[in-house]
Amino acid sequence: MRGAVVTLFGGSGFIGRHVVKRLAARGAVVRVPTRRPDHALHLKPLGDVGQIVLQEYSGEVSEQALAPLFEGTQLLVNLVGILFERRPGDFQRIHAELPRLLGVLARTRGVERVVHVSALGADPASPALYARTKAEGEARLRELVPQAVVLRPSVVFGPEDQFFNRFAFMSQLAPVLPIVGGKTRFQPVYVGDVADAVAAALSQEEAQGRLFELGGPRIYTFEQLLRYMLEVLGRRRLVVELPEGLARFMARFFEWLPNPPLTRDQIALLKRDNVVSGDHPGLAELGIAPTPLETVVPTYLVPYARQRGRPRTVDGA
Ligand SMILES: NC(=O)c1ccc[n+]([C@@H]2O[C@H](COP(=O)([O-])OP(=O)(O)OC[C@H]3O[C@@H](n4cnc5c(N)ncnc54)[C@H](OP(=O)(O)O)[C@@H]3O)[C@@H](O)[C@H]2O)c1
Repeated sequence: MRGAVVTLFGGSGFIGRHVVKRLAARGAVVRVPTRRPDHALHLKPLGDVGQIVLQEYSGEVSEQALAPLFEGTQLLVNLVGILFERRPGDFQRIHAELPRLLGVLARTRGVERVVHVSALGADPASPALYARTKAEGEARLRELVPQAVVLRPSVVFGPEDQFFNRFAFMSQLAPVLPIVGGKTRFQPVYVGDVADAVAAALSQEEAQGRLFELGGPRIYTFEQLLRYMLEVLGRRRLVVELPEGLARFMARFFEWLPNPPLTRDQIALLKRDNVVSGDHPGLAELGIAPTPLETVVPTYLVPYARQRGRPRTVDGA
């Protein structure tokens, strides 16, 4: 990968920074299109001088806006994704239309390899629009670039995650943690392993054209994950399952917030387990041993611990 030019859409996000680090370490020139280059400056020190290039991108999902970002691109990674819509049509635009246009440009501009990060649960028949549009994006891209590699992670954990950090923060404020889908099963995967998977998918010949499901070493219910987190924090909180009707009623109002804690589409997503199916290859086939969350999560929950600086290492749920 030494000297290769990689364009990494979504490189400024949670998973992105770990991917940037991996690719820079392999000697690639990493270009990160971003709507806010000033917010992505933290990526610069992850490589040598000039190795990480921030490209201003309007965020517009059109061939015209995307084409200039492809100049000289040899390898392409797409990490752009959203958890909720700010405006109707956002899921369709970001999850389905963007991958299609990336496919069009990758094909016409002679991009050698493409890696697309989707999500476990992507399914045209899912009750959640998030997952239906993720499935459409995969399909659209692969129609145009059959050799593209698709990675579908379960919930991803790591220092800046939106899962443990969010609930740990909430546990500081409220005596009760209300949840929906407490029995839904997840297979959390470490962000460093996902980043290694992206790097492997770009470099391994045998990975081309395949779909990988990325899950960690163990399966937990949503409720078990929260109870584990509370144990690490040394904090007692009631974990209460909300009736679906009430959750949907509350979500309807949350959806007006700029960063809603819950949406009706997420409630629909929680109806299905989020674990690897076994029908596709995974981390092992990419040569990666999955990292247990018990070895990582206590290290970054320190700021939320009841006794600061002393999160407890516990054996898991
Ligand atoms: N995190 C997880 O637990 C998880 C689990 C399964 C699948 N995934 C998938 O993995 C990928 C990366 O996830 P992540 O957690 O790293 O996401 P993230 O932190 O939210 O970052 C996504 C990036 O996408 C860009 N982006 C967001 N909205 C955009 C828009 N409307 N137009 C253009 N660019 C936009 C942002 O870049 P700028 O703001 O710099 O423009 C942002 O840095 C996503 O596709 C996600 O669906 C994540």
